[in-house]
Amino acid sequence: MKRVQDKVVLITGAASGVGKADALLLAAEGARVVLGDIDRKAGQALATEIGANALFVELDVAEEEHWQRAIDQTLAQFGRLDVLVNNAAICPLGTIEQTSLQQWRSVLRVNADGYFLGCKYAIEAMKQNEHGGSIIMMSSVAALGGLAPMCSYSSSKGAVTALTRNVAIHCKNSGYRIRCNSIHPDGIWTPMTQALVPDLDPAALGIGDNPMARMCMPEDVANMVLFLASDESRFINGAELRIDNAQMISGIAAGTPTQFKSEQQ
Ligand SMILES: NC(=O)c1ccc[n+]([C@@H]2O[C@H](COP(=O)([O-])OP(=O)(O)OC[C@H]3O[C@@H](n4cnc5c(N)ncnc54)[C@H](O)[C@@H]3O)[C@@H](O)[C@H]2O)c1
Repeated sequence: MKRVQDKVVLITGAASGVGKADALLLAAEGARVVLGDIDRKAGQALATEIGANALFVELDVAEEEHWQRAIDQTLAQFGRLDVLVNNAAICPLGTIEQTSLQQWRSVLRVNADGYFLGCKYAIEAMKQNEHGGSIIMMSSVAALGGLAPMCSYSSSKGAVTALTRNVAIHCKNSGYRIRCNSIHPDGIWTPMTQALVPDLDPAALGIGDNPMARMCMPEDVANMVLFLASDESRFINGAELRIDNAQMISGIAAGTPTQFKSEQQ
C-alpha cells in the first residue's frame, strides 16, 4: 500500500517548481493528481509524463468560474476530491516604498484571492467525503519574518497563514474532518527564485552538497506535502510548519543577505 494510494489531489501551480515536484511524488505514492495551472503547455506535458492518473485543468486561481470548472472536471474524472494543495503564487519584488497599489492588488489577487477560492470550493467538495480531506497551503517564512524586499508577497503569505487557521477551526467546529495546515519554506531552488536572483552560482549555495548548508530543493517541500496529504498526519491541523533549516530562528528571514534584482539597481 502506497502512502496516498487512490487519493485524489488537486495541485495549483503544478506546472513548475514545487507544484511539479508535489505532483510527481504524490503520483509515485499512488495518488490521482489534478494539475491546475495557467501554463497549459507545461501542465499538459507533465500530465502526459505522469500518465493515466493525471489530469491537467486550465486554472487561473483568481477566477471563481475556473474553480467551479476545475472541481467539476476533478469529480467527473476521479469521483471525489481528497486533498487540495494551494500552491500557485507570484512573487514580484518591492519594499513598502517601492510597491504600487496596482502591484499590491495583482499579487493579492493570485496569492490571497486564489487561496480563499481554493479553500471555499475544496471544502464544498470534501465535506461530502466520509473521511474528509486535507488542505495544504503554501505560505513562506516571508509571512513570519517580514522579508523587507517583498512587501506584497509577504503580506499575501500572511493572509494565507491566517486563512489556514480560520479554515482549520471552521472545519473542526463544523465536524467536516477537513484539516488545513500551512507550510513555510525559506528560499527554494525553483524558477521563481531563479528569476529573482540573477547570476546566482548554485555551487555557492552548496546545492547537492552538504545537506545542512544547501538551499531548500522542491523535493524537500514535496516530502512535507506528501505527509500532510497522507493519513499519517491525521492529528495535525491548523499548524504552521517551517521548512528552513533553522533560518527563521537565526533571524535571517527578517531581512535577507541575498542580493535581489531590485537592490542591485
Ligand atoms: N521559491 C521559493 O523560494 C519559495 C519560498 C517559499 C514559498 N514558496 C511558495 O511555494 C509555492 C510554489 O512556488 P515555486 O517556487 O514553485 O514557483 P514557480 O514560479 O516555479 O511556480 C509557480 C507556478 O504557479 C503558476 N501560476 C502563477 N500564477 C497562477 C495563477 N493565477 N493561477 C494558476 N497558476 C498560476 C505558474 O504558471 C507556475 O507554474 C508558492 O506558493 C510560493 O510562494 C516559494
